[in-house]
Amino acid sequence: MTRTNKNHTLSESENIMNKTELEKNLKTDYLGKPLIYTDCVDSTNNEIKRLAQKGYPTGTTVIAEKQTSGKGRLGRVWNSPVGTGLWFSFLLRPHTDFSQISGITLAAGLGVCRAVRSFTGLDAEIKWPNDIIIGNKKICGILVETAAETDKLKYAVVGIGINVNTRVFPDEIKEKATSLIIENKYSAINRTKLFKEILFHTEKCIDDYLKNPVIPNDYKQLCATLGRNISVRRGKNVINGIASDISENGDLIATDENHNKILINSGEVTVQGIY
Ligand code: BTN
Repeated sequence: MTRTNKNHTLSESENIMNKTELEKNLKTDYLGKPLIYTDCVDSTNNEIKRLAQKGYPTGTTVIAEKQTSGKGRLGRVWNSPVGTGLWFSFLLRPHTDFSQISGITLAAGLGVCRAVRSFTGLDAEIKWPNDIIIGNKKICGILVETAAETDKLKYAVVGIGINVNTRVFPDEIKEKATSLIIENKYSAINRTKLFKEILFHTEKCIDDYLKNPVIPNDYKQLCATLGRNISVRRGKNVINGIASDISENGDLIATDENHNKILINSGEVTVQGIY
């Protein structure tokens, strides 16, 4: 017997994705329209780039059950096994200049964080710029790739990977990765419904940012990096400081040991108590 409630099923076998269900009652204006669902792809980001070259519109979304070459930030591999996670990317063609890409990236993170919180009730937070964490472990990573012409953004690919019903992680990441099912006392999460909730919140956050390009207070409130000791590598040096704020264009603001203000706009930030 399978007992179900609104958002959680106790049987993962019921939770197989298909295109019809993924598109049903999708409450977005453009994200997921069109939606391409596939069993297996090298990387959904790569597939969106191929579709972008063919002229597909803003909002085009590719979701895969499995990626053979899932990509993480900073050239890392993203573990994307079949059936347990949400691995998807969407295409954006915003009429903005390149400087707004950090804000769009942060807006996508905020959208995922809000969706996870509202759908699961779990205390998801953001590790700047857009890892989604629960406690001190990562449940989601976002990889944004862009194509630009002079200072104009031609298109952006937003790739989102969420560990949903993953029970076991490879040794290399098990110390810092977790999944929604683990955090949800091993009650499985309906990936299809979660996906639609994410598209809905993410579209709203991106639209809000494009209408009014400021970093929302909600982002700052959900950002677990703020107020913590951080360290970041700059060439051969490691800079230590306390993260205090996010700048207008999405940089992390910190104060170093000599009370100097430092702006961090890239690279891997280590946050004390997180990772
Ligand atoms: C990170 O390193 O934190 C970013 C991980 C992004 C992974 C997602 S999974 C869907 C999309 N396709 C990819 O190849 N990468 C992104």
